[in-house]
Amino acid sequence: MLHDGWLRPMQVRPFSRSALELIAERCSHRTYDGASLDPQLRARLVEALESPPGTPFGNEVRLELVESFDARARGVRLGTYGMIQGARDFIVGGVRPGARDMEDFGFVFELAVLQATDLGLGTCWLGGTLKRGAFAEAAGLPEEMIVPAVSPVGRVKARRSLVDSATRALARSSKRKAPSELFFEGSFDRPLDAGGELAQVLAAVRLAPSASNRQPWRTVRAGDGALHFFVRRTPGYASVTAVDLQRIDMGIAMCHFQLAAGELGLEGGWTEMRPEGIPLPPRVEYAFSWRPGPGA
Ligand SMILES: Cc1cc2nc3c(=O)[nH]c(=O)nc-3n(C[C@H](O)[C@H](O)[C@H](O)COP(=O)(O)O)c2cc1C
Repeated sequence: MLHDGWLRPMQVRPFSRSALELIAERCSHRTYDGASLDPQLRARLVEALESPPGTPFGNEVRLELVESFDARARGVRLGTYGMIQGARDFIVGGVRPGARDMEDFGFVFELAVLQATDLGLGTCWLGGTLKRGAFAEAAGLPEEMIVPAVSPVGRVKARRSLVDSATRALARSSKRKAPSELFFEGSFDRPLDAGGELAQVLAAVRLAPSASNRQPWRTVRAGDGALHFFVRRTPGYASVTAVDLQRIDMGIAMCHFQLAAGELGLEGGWTEMRPEGIPLPPRVEYAFSWRPGPGA
């Protein structure tokens, strides 16, 4: 069941800047300067982590800042397909197991990542083979909680100039699949020709981080304007770890969609309404839907 009463575009903007701007600016950073966090930034980060929003599907997610994490002493090798250097502090997230737990986790953890971006701090989702127990223990999370991912958080080594960041944002966007491969009208064989706000909202979804940059999110717009979200499974991927990374990716997409829609005044809400009569390509599964309209 979806969590009642929270399914509207966000009413409180949790950032000091435009969410669309932060979404465009965020990228994975793997080299940190090793210094401790500035006390003021630290306080703002902790405040954000301590008050996570409600989750779309109602699962409990907890976020903790783990400082001076001594990876070597704990026998943790950081980064499975990318080296993480100079990382000292981590955002560690836990979720109580339940239906749609990974989607809820993705949603809330990505909000925290964007909050860190807002504070000028670098992050990098780490969810591949991870010593989850070591992080759970350091964060003091209840035993029954799963730690699907963590992220280093801190100053990145070389401060990028604005031009540099903008160039990177463009380059990154070219590392994403074309919108015609992701967003469809009516069925999976017809690319969506979205205009206006919806095009911008979907552009924000397309910039979402995803495990191994697989970009599993697909949407199909139905005749009534509802957007149905699907996950395209990468073969063998779900079984790599106990944690379903591609369901986390779907939660991240949900987060970007909701933030962008809220900012652009696109009213609507999340529902579960599996559409009838849309033939699914191989390895594509229904996830959830977004229904436009006031007070949905
Ligand atoms: C659920 C999830 C797990 C990830 N796990 C790792 C990881 O274990 N190691 C790593 O270096 N990057 C990891 N990443 C980062 C992705 O590789 C990265 O987001 C993607 O390549 C897109 O690049 P960008 O974040 O710079 O836009 C993960 C991302 C997500 C969303």
